[in-house]
Amino acid sequence: MISLIWAMDRNWLIGKDNILPWHYKKDLIYFKNHTKGKTVLMGEMTYLSLKGYYKDRPLPFGKIYVASLNNVSFDGCIMVNDLKGFLKETTEDVIVIGGKTVYQIALEYADYLYITWIDKDHEGNVFFPKFDLSMFKVISENQEDELRFTVYERG
Ligand SMILES: NC(=O)c1ccc[n+]([C@@H]2O[C@H](COP(=O)([O-])OP(=O)(O)OC[C@H]3O[C@@H](n4cnc5c(N)ncnc54)[C@H](OP(=O)(O)O)[C@@H]3O)[C@@H](O)[C@H]2O)c1
Repeated sequence: MISLIWAMDRNWLIGKDNILPWHYKKDLIYFKNHTKGKTVLMGEMTYLSLKGYYKDRPLPFGKIYVASLNNVSFDGCIMVNDLKGFLKETTEDVIVIGGKTVYQIALEYADYLYITWIDKDHEGNVFFPKFDLSMFKVISENQEDELRFTVYERG
């Protein structure tokens, strides 16, 4: 099963250079609760961004897959060079945690989407690729201040 999790603002903004454009404690807690100890997949840029944030502390996930076309490897991570092939063949429960490039490729394989809608216009330069959200139906929704935590299921 493949799940994608991300936060985006009214304009589908998700990033500013290689960091998040905002700081919402509630969203960070939500993200942690859904990914702690889990098998995650992320792109090389997102991995480097998270390492910058966690510094010497270990990333709080279980198994970590990192997608990259470059010939690099990261401690404690399983590198994925063929992202489509991986997503097609995996039988694991994998949570895709970014960024833009990896979300774009993973969308067609997604069973569940965990989207935090931020009811604001932030500044940044990385946007979630537009796609047809009507292929998914909302199965849970929870508004907290300017954040709306939604879960979608394909179908
Ligand atoms: N708002 C949120 O919830 C959220 C969450 C996560 C990340 N973000 C934001 O997203 C941005 C980063 O996104 P990004 O698109 O730059 O980077 P990314 O998705 O984290 O990483 C992309 C990596 O995937 C590699 N790649 C591309 N196609 C591939 C394939 N077919 N197989 C294997 N690897 C492949 C790329 O290789 P090449 O370098 O060779 O192209 C690159 O190294 C940042 O601004 C970050 O803050 C936001």
